[in-house]
Amino acid sequence: MLFERVRELRVKEAGYSHLVRGLLCALVLAGATIAVPVLNAQKVQLSIDPSKTGAKIDRNLFGQFAEDLGHGLYEGIWVGPDSAIPNTRGIRNDVVDALKQIKVPNVRWPGGCFADEYHWRNGIGPQRVVTLNPNWGGVLDTNAFGTHEFMDFLEQIGAEAYVSVNLGSGTPREAAEWFEYLTTAQPTTLAKERATNGHQAPYKVGYLGLGNESWDCGGNMTPDYYISQMKIYSRFVRNFNPDQQDKNQMLKIAVGPGGAEPRWTEWTEAVMKAYQAHTWSWDINGLSMHSYTVGKWPPSYASVGFGETEYAQILKHTLDMEDLVKKHSAIMDKYDPQKKVALVIDEWGAWYAPLPGSNPGFLVQQNSLRDAVLAALNLNIFARHADRVRMSNIAQMINVLQAMIMTDKEKMVLTPTYHVYKMYVPFQEANFVPVALEAGTYKNGDISLPRVDAIAAKDAAGNVWLAITNVDPNQPAEIEASVTGIAPKSASGETLTAPKVDSVNTFDAPNGVAPKPFTAKVEGGKVMLTLEPKSVTVISVKE
Ligand code: AHR
Repeated sequence: MLFERVRELRVKEAGYSHLVRGLLCALVLAGATIAVPVLNAQKVQLSIDPSKTGAKIDRNLFGQFAEDLGHGLYEGIWVGPDSAIPNTRGIRNDVVDALKQIKVPNVRWPGGCFADEYHWRNGIGPQRVVTLNPNWGGVLDTNAFGTHEFMDFLEQIGAEAYVSVNLGSGTPREAAEWFEYLTTAQPTTLAKERATNGHQAPYKVGYLGLGNESWDCGGNMTPDYYISQMKIYSRFVRNFNPDQQDKNQMLKIAVGPGGAEPRWTEWTEAVMKAYQAHTWSWDINGLSMHSYTVGKWPPSYASVGFGETEYAQILKHTLDMEDLVKKHSAIMDKYDPQKKVALVIDEWGAWYAPLPGSNPGFLVQQNSLRDAVLAALNLNIFARHADRVRMSNIAQMINVLQAMIMTDKEKMVLTPTYHVYKMYVPFQEANFVPVALEAGTYKNGDISLPRVDAIAAKDAAGNVWLAITNVDPNQPAEIEASVTGIAPKSASGETLTAPKVDSVNTFDAPNGVAPKPFTAKVEGGKVMLTLEPKSVTVISVKE
């Protein structure tokens, strides 16, 4: 592919000199305990030509997913106006401040599987209906965090709404009325009800999700059954906001695949074939794809307290994302060669065993340096396919799965994954620049992975950005980067690493995994970087 990175997988043996090897043997024979020294860094050649830019990296690639699940919304975002935890209209201020810094472009809500059992009227007005959350722990749901609270939260963090409607157990009428309630500026009864509930002006809704995993928790539908339902929702769930008629129109996202098996390729084929034949009366602008890094089902990898083998296994699994994107993009290309329909990876991330002692239905896990590396590798894949992949939503924003933030009552901690999202902010809306790279190989047992992974981009101001991940947990990587057409004078940014692959941030030690300033050397027109083992580094190259 045109913008595909050139990857020459060259296995170079890390070489001790004969002298060092002899010395180590002598020490071992003498029974000495030796600390294994850092192995020789291997030179990695990397080159970019910022005059040859590819697709724009849509800021929506850095979207979030916040389902009504466990402590994702309740406690994670919503504490209520009477809480002692500092809040604005019930929404915690610390979380809002942290999320503003990663410039969250959009948030997908209310689910997930939850969406196909959500009835929006339970979550508006002064009298909320208490329901159950049968998908996630069977707990009581006060519905205190409903439509207005979600939209208020988005306004506070500066993100757009991605609302998934209930196509499984709801009706087209229910969904259509929700969107009239949300978006109309006309004085309809529903608009007046919205005003009575505190919001006179119509809301903007950027994205409409037409169901969720309708092949499974969303109703176990066949592709054909789903397509006929989806057409009805696409037709009748309208956005009336006057500011979203000509420009900024709401984009409609259909349910897509959940993996690589034939049933998923058949699903993508069916939906895209229907799209190709669509008439004026319905349309879609995106096809959702879900793919978690699980390792094995049910999720049983530990999120903390693991070693290098599990690090390598999980990262190997996460790299399957590249083939999955290629596979479904190729099908989409057949029916939509102009790439009008975006591939929207609106659920992805690591899914591990629940933390001991937590409610298994709450999907609570720790977040380690491995997850930071995993996040960077996936964001890099999405950026390399930015012509088709124009939105992604990591699962899930707070306290659930691969979260950005974890909270415990008044305490809050930023995860290693959060730091990657913050470091990658300059890539939002920048133009992708292809990277030619000798990745090398990192080996662990029978697992071989590209040792180094990188993306580059040029932002609107002309700044050139490089994000490089050193996957190897044992050896630093020495990068010699050539940047065609510019004479670099300096290159600096931040790097994220930690002592161990399973290093985490905790409420008591929140900065175990935190970015540090990073400065590269510039020599002979090249940018020279020494990347620490198991690290993610983002720099800008200045002339
Ligand atoms: O993110 C947790 C769940 O995973 C979502 O509710 C569902 O869509 C997916 O199966």
